[in-house]
Amino acid sequence: MLAVFPKITVFENLEFQPPDAILGIMALFRADPAPNKVDLSVGVFQDEAGRTPVLQCVKRAERRIIEAQDSKSYVAIAGNPGFNEAMEKMLFGAGHPALEAGRVSSVQTPGGSGALSVAGHVIVRARPAATVWLSQPSWPNHLPLLRLAGLELAHYPYYDFDRHRVDFDAMVETFSSLGPGDVVLLHGCCHNPCGADLSPEQWDALADLFADRGIVPFVDLAYQGLAENLEADAHGVRVMAERVDEILLASSCSKNLGLYRERVGLASIVSRNADEAAITRTNLAQMGRGIYSMPPDHGAAIVSCILHDEELTAQWLEELGEMRERLNSLRRTFADQLAQRGADVDFSFIARERGMFSFLGLPREQVIRLREEFHVYMVESSRINFAGLNRSNMDYVAGSIIAVLQ
Ligand code: LMR
Repeated sequence: MLAVFPKITVFENLEFQPPDAILGIMALFRADPAPNKVDLSVGVFQDEAGRTPVLQCVKRAERRIIEAQDSKSYVAIAGNPGFNEAMEKMLFGAGHPALEAGRVSSVQTPGGSGALSVAGHVIVRARPAATVWLSQPSWPNHLPLLRLAGLELAHYPYYDFDRHRVDFDAMVETFSSLGPGDVVLLHGCCHNPCGADLSPEQWDALADLFADRGIVPFVDLAYQGLAENLEADAHGVRVMAERVDEILLASSCSKNLGLYRERVGLASIVSRNADEAAITRTNLAQMGRGIYSMPPDHGAAIVSCILHDEELTAQWLEELGEMRERLNSLRRTFADQLAQRGADVDFSFIARERGMFSFLGLPREQVIRLREEFHVYMVESSRINFAGLNRSNMDYVAGSIIAVLQ
């Protein structure tokens, strides 16, 4: 007689998952037929015509790569060695003591998210009981991504929503009770979502505090070059790598090179010494192999080509400067527009903050009203991406905000 098994399916216990907090809004925007709709949601750069262009330096590098490429065979688990080496120099600065001492190990990853994930898995392997502290607020994907790696997560105070500035005293108070086994995720520059960054002096003070208490910094540097310049924006990473024994770094070329869909990132760990770095390197590589086997090549090949060529690098720095200046000038003009229209709220913080994002500080109902009545799309926390503004829509957006505030 045949045994009768109860019919239990593999997937019947799955529950419906809500749309992504950021990419879900992007999808709603795309589905909206309104001709006057404005997208201030997902963090992609847009020019005055609302396009997200391929940089000229990228186009030139791509042509060279396609011309020279004679194989599509695998590259390596750790990715393109030329990319890894050029990125380390850009992130830490050529001649940085940690690089000179051989303390840095890196692997190319699929985007900054891939870097966060690989680094997160290495933390779990090295210290399963570690807690990773996220800023309050942080990028909405930090929490699910790092939780999926198996990490214990907690939050530290970061942004003072009333005064629109970093609450440094509250941060320091929280960190003063942490110690070995605590990993603190810090945004290297252009804080996502609030746009309020630590000053160089605050980074220096944190580096000393972390070194004293044995806290490990985990820096997410996804916007290098979009706040002040490549060097100033890496101050935090560099001072941490100089003063603290161990640090983690996740970096991305999505924004500063406009390579979003190519998925180009780097996961780096700074160890106490070169011997430990050699061991860490094998763990980074093995983790990548286990999750996705090997990173995609094309984007990293482009970055390597640009960073190894003086003329292309100079062109990139010019294009990066134009993107940064556009963001900063949109911030100034928009803050002025809102003030001229007599907004009851003081929006001057917008001009002080940096990068693509700031919080407008609107309650969720007003954000929904902006979307449904005015077709102005932003993340429900009221985070806006300034690059979505331009001369032809700014007046409309400012007017819509004033209307929902009344
Ligand atoms: C954002 O914050 O909008 C970007 O980093 C895109 C993303 O993947 O969330």
